[in-house]
Amino acid sequence: MRAAAIAQPNIALIKYWGKRDVDRNLPAVGSISITLRELFTEMCVQLDAGLPHDMLVVNGTPDTALLPRLSACLDRVLGAERSRARIDSRCNFPIAAGLASSASAFAALTVAAAAAGNKSSDPAVLASLAGRASGSAARSLYSGYVELENTADDIAVCTLRDPGEWPLTVVVAITASGPKSVGSTRAMELSRQTSPFYSSWIEQQPHDLGVAREAIMQRDFAKLAAVSEHNCLKMHSIMWASRPPIVYWNAATMDCLQTVRDLQAQGVGVFFTMDAGPQVKAVCLPEHAQQVRAALGATAGVVELMESGLGDAARLVNRA
Ligand code: PMV
Repeated sequence: MRAAAIAQPNIALIKYWGKRDVDRNLPAVGSISITLRELFTEMCVQLDAGLPHDMLVVNGTPDTALLPRLSACLDRVLGAERSRARIDSRCNFPIAAGLASSASAFAALTVAAAAAGNKSSDPAVLASLAGRASGSAARSLYSGYVELENTADDIAVCTLRDPGEWPLTVVVAITASGPKSVGSTRAMELSRQTSPFYSSWIEQQPHDLGVAREAIMQRDFAKLAAVSEHNCLKMHSIMWASRPPIVYWNAATMDCLQTVRDLQAQGVGVFFTMDAGPQVKAVCLPEHAQQVRAALGATAGVVELMESGLGDAARLVNRA
Protein backbone atom coordinates (compact mmCIF):
# COMPACT_ATOMS: atom_id res chain seq x y z
CA MET A 1 0.00 0.00 0.00
CA ARG A 2 3.05 2.24 0.26
CA ALA A 3 6.08 2.42 -2.02
CA ALA A 4 8.79 4.91 -2.94
CA ALA A 5 10.74 5.23 -6.17
CA ILE A 6 13.50 7.41 -7.51
CA ALA A 7 13.93 8.51 -11.13
CA GLN A 8 16.49 10.64 -12.90
CA PRO A 9 15.56 13.20 -15.55
CA ASN A 10 16.79 12.61 -19.07
CA ILE A 11 18.00 15.04 -21.71
CA ALA A 12 16.98 14.38 -25.31
CA LEU A 13 19.73 14.54 -27.94
CA ILE A 14 17.30 13.72 -30.74
CA LYS A 15 14.15 15.48 -29.61
CA TYR A 16 10.54 14.54 -29.16
CA TRP A 17 8.52 17.47 -30.48
CA GLY A 18 4.92 17.01 -31.65
CA LYS A 19 2.13 14.57 -30.87
CA ARG A 20 0.36 12.24 -33.28
CA ASP A 21 -2.41 11.48 -30.76
CA VAL A 22 -3.09 14.14 -28.13
CA ASP A 23 -5.60 12.04 -26.14
CA ARG A 24 -3.19 9.13 -25.73
CA ASN A 25 -0.19 11.48 -25.62
CA LEU A 26 1.57 9.53 -28.37
CA PRO A 27 4.63 11.25 -29.90
CA ALA A 28 4.79 12.05 -33.62
CA VAL A 29 8.48 11.09 -33.73
CA GLY A 30 10.98 8.79 -32.03
CA SER A 31 13.68 10.27 -29.79
CA ILE A 32 17.06 9.47 -28.21
CA SER A 33 18.10 10.69 -24.77
CA ILE A 34 20.65 10.31 -22.00
CA THR A 35 19.49 9.58 -18.47
CA LEU A 36 21.29 11.68 -15.85
CA ARG A 37 22.78 10.52 -12.54
CA GLU A 38 22.99 13.39 -10.06
CA LEU A 39 19.56 14.99 -10.55
CA PHE A 40 16.59 13.10 -9.13
CA THR A 41 12.95 13.09 -8.15
CA GLU A 42 11.73 10.77 -5.42
CA MET A 43 8.04 9.93 -5.15
CA CYS A 44 6.44 8.11 -2.26
CA VAL A 45 2.89 6.86 -2.83
CA GLN A 46 0.70 5.78 0.05
CA LEU A 47 -2.70 4.36 -0.87
CA ASP A 48 -5.28 5.12 1.81
CA ALA A 49 -9.02 4.59 1.30
CA GLY A 50 -9.65 6.82 4.36
CA LEU A 51 -8.31 9.99 2.69
CA PRO A 52 -10.99 12.49 1.53
CA HIS A 53 -9.06 13.14 -1.72
CA ASP A 54 -5.58 12.73 -3.23
CA MET A 55 -2.89 14.83 -1.58
CA LEU A 56 0.44 16.03 -2.88
CA VAL A 57 3.35 17.39 -0.87
CA VAL A 58 6.33 18.71 -2.88
CA ASN A 59 9.59 19.24 -1.01
CA GLY A 60 7.59 19.47 2.25
CA THR A 61 4.93 21.95 0.97
CA PRO A 62 1.35 20.95 -0.03
CA ASP A 63 0.76 21.53 -3.74
CA THR A 64 -2.61 21.57 -5.52
CA ALA A 65 -1.48 22.91 -8.91
CA LEU A 66 0.40 19.79 -10.00
CA LEU A 67 -2.05 17.35 -8.38
CA PRO A 68 -4.57 16.80 -11.24
CA ARG A 69 -1.89 15.46 -13.65
CA LEU A 70 -0.49 13.19 -10.94
CA SER A 71 -3.97 11.92 -10.01
CA ALA A 72 -4.68 11.14 -13.68
CA CYS A 73 -1.41 9.19 -13.85
CA LEU A 74 -2.42 7.18 -10.74
CA ASP A 75 -5.79 6.41 -12.41
CA ARG A 76 -3.99 4.97 -15.44
CA VAL A 77 -1.59 2.86 -13.37
CA LEU A 78 -4.06 1.64 -10.74
CA GLY A 79 -7.47 1.92 -12.44
CA ALA A 80 -10.16 4.53 -11.75
CA GLU A 81 -11.53 2.48 -8.81
CA ARG A 82 -8.27 2.89 -6.88
CA SER A 83 -7.90 4.11 -3.31
CA ARG A 84 -7.01 7.74 -2.75
CA ALA A 85 -3.35 8.48 -2.37
CA ARG A 86 -0.95 10.69 -0.51
CA ILE A 87 2.05 11.53 -2.70
CA ASP A 88 5.24 12.91 -1.19
CA SER A 89 7.71 14.26 -3.71
CA ARG A 90 11.28 15.40 -3.32
CA CYS A 91 13.34 16.91 -6.11
CA ASN A 92 16.89 18.34 -6.05
CA PHE A 93 16.57 20.67 -9.07
CA PRO A 94 14.14 23.42 -10.30
CA ILE A 95 10.68 22.17 -11.34
CA ALA A 96 9.09 23.06 -14.74
CA ALA A 97 12.05 25.16 -15.88
CA GLY A 98 13.02 23.09 -18.92
CA LEU A 99 15.09 20.59 -16.94
CA ALA A 100 12.91 17.56 -17.62
CA SER A 101 11.34 17.62 -14.15
CA SER A 102 8.16 16.05 -15.53
CA ALA A 103 10.19 13.14 -16.94
CA SER A 104 11.65 12.14 -13.58
CA ALA A 105 8.44 12.97 -11.69
CA PHE A 106 6.14 10.78 -13.79
CA ALA A 107 8.68 7.97 -14.11
CA ALA A 108 9.11 7.84 -10.31
CA LEU A 109 5.37 8.16 -9.71
CA THR A 110 4.54 5.32 -12.12
CA VAL A 111 7.09 2.95 -10.56
CA ALA A 112 6.01 3.80 -6.98
CA ALA A 113 2.27 3.58 -7.74
CA ALA A 114 2.59 0.23 -9.54
CA ALA A 115 4.47 -1.22 -6.56
CA ALA A 116 2.04 0.23 -4.00
CA GLY A 117 -0.88 -1.28 -5.94
CA ASN A 118 0.82 -4.61 -6.77
CA LYS A 119 0.69 -3.98 -10.50
CA SER A 120 3.15 -5.09 -13.19
CA SER A 121 6.75 -3.99 -12.69
CA ASP A 122 7.67 -4.68 -16.36
CA PRO A 123 9.61 -1.57 -17.54
CA ALA A 124 7.95 -1.74 -20.97
CA VAL A 125 4.49 -1.55 -19.39
CA LEU A 126 5.58 1.18 -16.97
CA ALA A 127 7.25 3.17 -19.78
CA SER A 128 4.04 3.14 -21.78
CA LEU A 129 2.04 4.29 -18.72
CA ALA A 130 4.56 7.01 -17.79
CA GLY A 131 4.57 8.17 -21.42
CA ARG A 132 0.83 8.79 -21.27
CA ALA A 133 1.55 11.46 -18.62
CA SER A 134 4.69 12.97 -20.16
CA GLY A 135 6.27 11.70 -23.36
CA SER A 136 9.81 12.13 -22.08
CA ALA A 137 9.01 10.26 -18.83
CA ALA A 138 8.94 6.95 -20.70
CA ARG A 139 12.69 7.32 -21.35
CA SER A 140 13.54 7.72 -17.63
CA LEU A 141 12.43 4.09 -17.12
CA TYR A 142 15.72 3.13 -18.81
CA SER A 143 19.37 3.84 -18.07
CA GLY A 144 22.15 5.49 -20.08
CA TYR A 145 21.57 6.07 -23.80
CA VAL A 146 17.89 5.48 -24.47
CA GLU A 147 15.85 5.26 -27.65
CA LEU A 148 12.10 5.73 -27.74
CA GLU A 149 10.66 4.19 -30.87
CA ASN A 150 7.36 5.45 -32.17
CA THR A 151 5.64 2.16 -33.09
CA ALA A 152 2.39 1.77 -35.03
CA ASP A 153 0.19 1.54 -31.95
CA ASP A 154 2.23 2.65 -28.92
CA ILE A 155 5.85 3.35 -27.99
CA ALA A 156 8.78 0.99 -27.38
CA VAL A 157 11.76 2.08 -25.30
CA CYS A 158 15.20 0.48 -24.92
CA THR A 159 18.71 1.18 -23.67
CA LEU A 160 21.16 1.51 -26.59
CA ARG A 161 24.22 1.63 -24.33
CA ASP A 162 24.73 1.43 -20.57
CA PRO A 163 26.08 4.57 -18.89
CA GLY A 164 29.41 2.93 -17.98
CA GLU A 165 30.08 1.93 -21.60
CA TRP A 166 30.49 5.54 -22.72
CA PRO A 167 30.53 7.90 -19.74
CA LEU A 168 29.85 11.48 -20.80
CA THR A 169 29.30 14.48 -18.53
CA VAL A 170 26.49 17.03 -18.76
CA VAL A 171 27.02 20.56 -17.45
CA VAL A 172 23.72 22.43 -17.14
CA ALA A 173 23.86 26.23 -17.24
CA ILE A 174 20.79 27.67 -15.53
CA THR A 175 20.04 31.06 -17.10
CA ALA A 176 16.65 31.69 -15.44
CA SER A 177 15.08 29.87 -12.54
CA GLY A 178 11.34 30.63 -12.99
CA PRO A 179 8.84 28.25 -14.60
CA LYS A 180 8.81 28.12 -18.41
CA SER A 181 6.66 30.57 -20.34
CA VAL A 182 4.62 28.01 -22.36
CA GLY A 183 4.01 24.37 -21.39
CA SER A 184 5.38 21.80 -23.84
CA THR A 185 1.98 20.29 -24.71
CA ARG A 186 0.55 23.65 -25.84
CA ALA A 187 3.81 24.58 -27.57
CA MET A 188 3.88 21.29 -29.51
CA GLU A 189 0.30 21.77 -30.69
CA LEU A 190 1.02 25.35 -31.79
CA SER A 191 4.02 24.05 -33.73
CA ARG A 192 2.00 21.31 -35.42
CA GLN A 193 -0.84 23.65 -36.36
CA THR A 194 1.11 26.73 -37.46
CA SER A 195 4.80 26.11 -38.17
CA PRO A 196 5.74 25.81 -41.87
CA PHE A 197 8.71 23.61 -40.86
CA TYR A 198 6.75 21.02 -38.91
CA SER A 199 6.25 18.51 -41.75
CA SER A 200 9.93 18.48 -42.74
CA TRP A 201 10.82 17.93 -39.07
CA ILE A 202 8.69 14.77 -39.04
CA GLU A 203 10.14 13.59 -42.37
CA GLN A 204 13.79 14.08 -41.34
CA GLN A 205 13.60 12.58 -37.86
CA PRO A 206 14.28 8.92 -38.90
CA HIS A 207 17.52 10.11 -40.53
CA ASP A 208 18.68 11.98 -37.40
CA LEU A 209 17.75 9.00 -35.21
CA GLY A 210 19.79 6.70 -37.45
CA VAL A 211 22.89 8.93 -37.33
CA ALA A 212 22.69 9.35 -33.53
CA ARG A 213 22.14 5.61 -32.96
CA GLU A 214 25.20 4.87 -35.10
CA ALA A 215 27.30 7.53 -33.30
CA ILE A 216 26.38 6.04 -29.92
CA MET A 217 27.20 2.49 -31.04
CA GLN A 218 30.57 3.70 -32.44
CA ARG A 219 31.20 6.07 -29.48
CA ASP A 220 31.81 8.77 -32.09
CA PHE A 221 31.60 12.06 -30.14
CA ALA A 222 31.99 14.41 -33.13
CA LYS A 223 29.20 12.64 -35.01
CA LEU A 224 26.87 12.69 -32.00
CA ALA A 225 27.69 16.37 -31.39
CA ALA A 226 26.86 17.41 -34.96
CA VAL A 227 23.55 15.57 -35.22
CA SER A 228 22.42 16.57 -31.70
CA GLU A 229 23.07 20.30 -32.18
CA HIS A 230 21.41 20.20 -35.61
CA ASN A 231 18.35 18.39 -34.24
CA CYS A 232 18.02 20.80 -31.30
CA LEU A 233 18.27 23.88 -33.52
CA LYS A 234 15.68 22.42 -35.90
CA MET A 235 13.27 21.93 -33.00
CA HIS A 236 13.73 25.52 -31.86
CA SER A 237 13.39 26.79 -35.46
CA ILE A 238 9.95 25.15 -35.67
CA MET A 239 9.00 27.00 -32.50
CA TRP A 240 10.36 30.36 -33.66
CA ALA A 241 8.37 30.01 -36.90
CA SER A 242 5.12 29.15 -35.10
CA ARG A 243 2.32 31.69 -34.71
CA PRO A 244 2.53 33.14 -32.14
CA PRO A 245 6.26 32.41 -31.95
CA ILE A 246 7.51 30.28 -29.07
CA VAL A 247 10.88 31.56 -27.90
CA TYR A 248 12.29 29.91 -24.80
CA TRP A 249 15.76 31.46 -25.07
CA ASN A 250 17.05 34.54 -23.30
CA ALA A 251 20.23 36.61 -23.83
CA ALA A 252 22.25 34.32 -21.56
CA THR A 253 21.14 31.29 -23.60
CA MET A 254 22.79 32.89 -26.65
CA ASP A 255 25.91 33.75 -24.68
CA CYS A 256 26.19 30.13 -23.51
CA LEU A 257 25.97 28.92 -27.13
CA GLN A 258 28.83 31.27 -28.00
CA THR A 259 30.84 29.91 -25.06
CA VAL A 260 30.32 26.35 -26.35
CA ARG A 261 31.31 27.43 -29.88
CA ASP A 262 34.50 29.06 -28.50
CA LEU A 263 35.36 25.89 -26.56
CA GLN A 264 34.83 23.79 -29.69
CA ALA A 265 37.20 26.09 -31.61
CA GLN A 266 39.85 25.33 -28.96
CA GLY A 267 39.37 21.59 -29.52
CA VAL A 268 37.27 20.90 -26.41
CA GLY A 269 34.91 17.90 -26.77
CA VAL A 270 31.58 19.58 -26.02
CA PHE A 271 28.23 20.23 -27.66
CA PHE A 272 25.01 21.98 -26.60
CA THR A 273 21.38 21.07 -26.46
CA MET A 274 18.31 22.94 -25.16
CA ASP A 275 14.74 21.96 -24.42
CA ALA A 276 11.52 23.81 -23.60
CA GLY A 277 13.28 26.42 -21.50
CA PRO A 278 16.27 28.80 -21.52
CA GLN A 279 18.78 26.44 -19.86
CA VAL A 280 21.76 25.22 -21.88
CA LYS A 281 22.93 21.65 -21.45
CA ALA A 282 26.55 21.16 -22.47
CA VAL A 283 27.36 17.50 -23.11
CA CYS A 284 31.11 16.86 -22.88
CA LEU A 285 33.87 14.32 -22.55
CA PRO A 286 34.55 13.84 -18.80
CA GLU A 287 38.16 14.99 -19.16
CA HIS A 288 36.91 18.35 -20.46
CA ALA A 289 34.16 18.86 -17.85
CA GLN A 290 36.18 21.17 -15.63
CA GLN A 291 37.05 23.48 -18.54
CA VAL A 292 33.41 23.51 -19.74
CA ARG A 293 32.21 24.28 -16.22
CA ALA A 294 34.67 27.15 -15.80
CA ALA A 295 33.78 28.69 -19.18
CA LEU A 296 30.01 28.46 -18.67
CA GLY A 297 30.35 29.71 -15.08
CA ALA A 298 32.12 32.81 -16.40
CA THR A 299 29.40 33.46 -19.03
CA ALA A 300 27.20 36.52 -18.40
CA GLY A 301 23.73 35.70 -17.10
CA VAL A 302 24.45 32.15 -15.87
CA VAL A 303 22.91 31.98 -12.40
CA GLU A 304 23.81 28.42 -11.47
CA LEU A 305 25.65 25.38 -12.81
CA MET A 306 24.82 21.73 -12.29
CA GLU A 307 26.90 18.78 -13.38
CA SER A 308 25.91 15.18 -13.91
CA GLY A 309 27.18 11.93 -15.26
CA LEU A 310 24.93 9.38 -16.95
CA GLY A 311 22.71 7.34 -14.70
CA ASP A 312 20.30 4.57 -14.01
CA ALA A 313 16.72 3.67 -14.73
CA ALA A 314 13.85 4.58 -12.39
CA ARG A 315 13.74 2.16 -9.47
CA LEU A 316 12.10 1.37 -6.15
CA VAL A 317 13.80 2.54 -2.97
CA ASN A 318 13.25 1.44 0.60
CA ARG A 319 11.53 3.99 2.79
CA ALA A 320 10.30 3.19 6.29
O1 PMV B 1 7.66 15.13 -22.08
P1 PMV B 1 7.25 16.52 -22.33
O2 PMV B 1 5.82 16.63 -22.69
O3 PMV B 1 7.61 17.46 -21.21
O4 PMV B 1 8.04 17.05 -23.64
C1 PMV B 1 9.43 17.07 -23.72
C2 PMV B 1 9.90 17.90 -24.85
C3 PMV B 1 11.39 18.19 -24.92
O5 PMV B 1 11.97 18.17 -23.62
C4 PMV B 1 11.58 19.59 -25.48
C5 PMV B 1 12.13 17.23 -25.84
C6 PMV B 1 12.37 15.85 -25.30
O6 PMV B 1 12.46 14.92 -26.11
O7 PMV B 1 12.54 15.69 -24.08
